[in-house]
Amino acid sequence: MNVYDTSFMIRELSRLNYEETTILENSDLVIVNTCTIRDKAEQKAFSFLGRLSRMKKKKPELIIGVGGCVAQQEGKKVLKRAPLVDIVFGTHAVGRLSKLVQQFEFTRRPIVDVKMATEIIENQFEEENIPIEGFTEEAVTGFVTIMRGCDNYCTYCVVPYVRGRETSRRPENIVSEIKSLVKKGLREVTLLGQNVNSYGLKGGKCSFPELLQKINNIDGLQRIRFATSHPKDLSDELIFALRDLEKLCNHMHLPVQSGSNNILEKMNRKYSRELYLKKVDKLRTACPDIAITTDIITGFPGETESDFQQTLDLIKTVEFDSLFGFIYSDRPNAIATDFSDKISEKEKKNRLNQILDLQKKYSKKKNMAMIGKTELILVEGLSKMQKKGDMRNGSKDFQWSGRTSTNKIVNFVMEECSSCNNNIKGKMVEVIIEKAFSHSLWGKTKENENLYHCVKGEKDNAA
Ligand code: 5AD
Ligand code: SF4
Repeated sequence: MNVYDTSFMIRELSRLNYEETTILENSDLVIVNTCTIRDKAEQKAFSFLGRLSRMKKKKPELIIGVGGCVAQQEGKKVLKRAPLVDIVFGTHAVGRLSKLVQQFEFTRRPIVDVKMATEIIENQFEEENIPIEGFTEEAVTGFVTIMRGCDNYCTYCVVPYVRGRETSRRPENIVSEIKSLVKKGLREVTLLGQNVNSYGLKGGKCSFPELLQKINNIDGLQRIRFATSHPKDLSDELIFALRDLEKLCNHMHLPVQSGSNNILEKMNRKYSRELYLKKVDKLRTACPDIAITTDIITGFPGETESDFQQTLDLIKTVEFDSLFGFIYSDRPNAIATDFSDKISEKEKKNRLNQILDLQKKYSKKKNMAMIGKTELILVEGLSKMQKKGDMRNGSKDFQWSGRTSTNKIVNFVMEECSSCNNNIKGKMVEVIIEKAFSHSLWGKTKENENLYHCVKGEKDNAA
């Protein structure tokens, strides 16, 4: 979501003739787009602001802006903790960034804009309807926000306080934004929202599965992903959409957070372990090869050893494709911050390591099962290895990287192809999987299949 918001900030700043630079020391203006979901993210933001402040002491004309959730949460207090900051703008002020920077250039006085009124949200969405012009980079994959905010109030979570109430964008604006990105080379879109399953329910817009159908009809778009789904709102319609819409990827990120009913209740998640497992079964019945991934928090206040064992047991029962594990941290305004029975940092870490160790086995097992299979990969670009110039086995072949429909990273080699000059970024190619690691797969394009990617590529371009 911050990556997406950052692209809007860049657009806003380009109105004032600012250009991106990759060299921090050369910049006249630096915007730090912050995250406050966990304590660590907030600490990182302030330590980076410390570095910028040292830069500004040597270069007083440097303008420093702080946006995103830390700005929204801390408001004026950001200026106390980092006095050399010039502009603090909250999550709903992204559409006003160029005005704020202009104002600062004129007055050279610190500005704090963290207003979050409903009418401002609507105005911002109106602004978002302006097609994104001036973006020339040819990204194969990209994000589009379909809704903002959250009404769920999980007791550990800061999002409802920093992103505000849930608001869905209009389907026609989402579709037209994706169409304009596809014209610039986008092949895969990830739709973003805190809880995409409740898209459109407030305000009488179309449902999420209906939105997916509209996006599935966009010519030239190859793949659709989405994040994140709340298990309580995962509907049968969405499961059928996953089964039936050919562009919708075979992957569901379904954060469970804990395997214990006692903790789920304290987290205000509004589903039980049993309901979660039932939804997983339904997903696998409709889409047998679907990849399921999750988020888990360790050391939520009051989590006993037996609660934790139930989380380990749930991981064994579901056999997730991968998981993101997080150590619980208190967040400002979140209800659980006032809960007693806090777990020690040492124990929280110990539990995190246990879930990560356990998951490693299942990730490897799932990846191993793919060896020998042919997978359709959307090529995102040269592999990291190739970019670093580190070619395995001294081979001259090109090393590319892309993902399967199930969101697994595949690095693969392709022999030099004289017909297409190996220009396969953004193309769909078939790759035979040869090796499996915990976090990625390795393969090669099907033999004598060079013609395949050229022909397929021409088809894509024609579309
Ligand atoms: N502490 C630890 N993890 C958290 N998450 C959200 N809030 C907290 C918190 N206070 C995790 C949840 C969520 C993911 C994005 O971040 O697992 O799904
Ligand atoms: Fe936070 Fe819960 Fe909303 Fe997710 S659903 S953003 S965890 S409050």
